[in-house]
Amino acid sequence: MAPAGIFISFEGIDGAGKSTHIEGLAQAFRAQGRAVTQTREPGGTPLAEKLRAMVLADAMDDLTEVLLLFAARRDHLLQVIEPALARGDMVLCDRFTDATFAYQGSGRGFDWQVLGQLEQWVQNTPGQGAGGTSFLRQPDLTLWFDLPPELAAQRLAGARLPDRFEAQPVEFFRRVANGYAQRLAAAPGRFASIDATLERHAVWQQITQALVRRGWLSIMVSNTKRP
Ligand code: TYD
Repeated sequence: MAPAGIFISFEGIDGAGKSTHIEGLAQAFRAQGRAVTQTREPGGTPLAEKLRAMVLADAMDDLTEVLLLFAARRDHLLQVIEPALARGDMVLCDRFTDATFAYQGSGRGFDWQVLGQLEQWVQNTPGQGAGGTSFLRQPDLTLWFDLPPELAAQRLAGARLPDRFEAQPVEFFRRVANGYAQRLAAAPGRFASIDATLERHAVWQQITQALVRRGWLSIMVSNTKRP
């Protein structure tokens, strides 16, 4: 019997250092014989990648931004995430809906209740819950890379041409970080908080510990594969 699919999202403010660890984790799961779907938001499908390019580059009002993000998410869920989970893949997704609450909700000041309604609409998966009921798709685990906005800004400085979000002031990222903390407080069982101020290997160890604890990664693989 194929193993159950597992959905893991990676979150944090820009400059928190998620990327290398997502790659490392994909390798660790593959070394363990698991099929991995590595994807990202906004994006992950041809349509959603077009929406990503707009959201990251074009000026627009806050509601338009939110609607484009959720439109991209709907396409991504239906085309990529749900089929991968049904196959039994480990789905590693660079950002998901917590980012919308943190960036659009807390960063931009967009209404959290409206975001909650859109979340219900977009992540509703008919017929896949117990007894054929519908349920709200959420990541099984969200790794939150937590670090102070000042430090993230230092890490990002001069790295490349900033997009519409990376160009925001430190104040914006302070609000975004608070948004993530609020999402964690509302669903603590879904989150593992990673101290992203530490050096790379110490961050990697925290990540693998969170996965070993859940029985999703063997200790041997977590020790041998490190980015
Ligand atoms: P990011 O994930 O940081 O990718 P990269 O490191 O390749 O630039 O970029 C995506 C940006 O989009 C990031 O600044 C956060 C923002 N974003 C939102 O504002 N809301 C969302 O719902 C999502 C998924 C991302």
